[in-house]
Amino acid sequence: MQTIITKNQAEMSAKAAELIIEQVKAKPDSVLALPTGKTPQLVYAKLVEAFQQGRVSFAGVKTFNLDEYVGMCRTCADSFYVYMKQHLYDHVDIRPENIFLLDGAASNLDDECANYERDIKEVGGVDLAILGIGRDGHIGFCEPGMSFDSRTIVVNLDESTRQANADDLVELKEVPAQAITMGLATIFKSRQIILLASGEHKAAIVAKALEGEVSEQVPASILQTHPQTTVILDEAAASQLKAS
Ligand code: GLP
Repeated sequence: MQTIITKNQAEMSAKAAELIIEQVKAKPDSVLALPTGKTPQLVYAKLVEAFQQGRVSFAGVKTFNLDEYVGMCRTCADSFYVYMKQHLYDHVDIRPENIFLLDGAASNLDDECANYERDIKEVGGVDLAILGIGRDGHIGFCEPGMSFDSRTIVVNLDESTRQANADDLVELKEVPAQAITMGLATIFKSRQIILLASGEHKAAIVAKALEGEVSEQVPASILQTHPQTTVILDEAAASQLKAS
């Protein structure tokens, strides 16, 4: 695990965007796993900027989002699909058929999970997964206690996660109780992983995940054992690391 500490969120985002661009240039048909939330917003803005400057094309790229709320229709204002359209997809040359997102409103969620696993396998697996981290250590929506062997699955969201995400809601009054997420084993199989965290409110969990015990109680701690993980932090998020 390599850890890069940057000055602030803007620098963290620029660094992450450069690594993603490098990956896509080296392999134009890269398969990316992508997060939502506040953390990656500026990363997406930097990717859009690079596309507009002709520095990168996403025409051959395939993307799989990490998660979606259960019950959320694709075009609902609070769906991660709408988030991705607003932040990335509507502004770059990615092909619609190369965009994969879990359908939270699918009538059979077990089939939806199995199909997602199949789709990931069919494209040859994820080359690069970009992750944020929840304050309880979740990645995607893999909450504390989830098995490191988990594949794409329906989960109950922790109350703290529901509260933390409440201010991102546009239309809904409260965060749904369940989500559908790539599992920890699915994420771990990615050939390369970038974990991002910015802000003081992430400092405690970052220290626990990176320097604490590898435990299913801290899902992101699984990354300590991944051979190709780069962690990009800003100074505030890195402030409780012993090694910094
Ligand atoms: C959310 C998402 C994660 C995200 C994390 C942190 O619940 N499911 O993919 O990385 O929580 O969110 P934020 O970046 O807004 O702090």
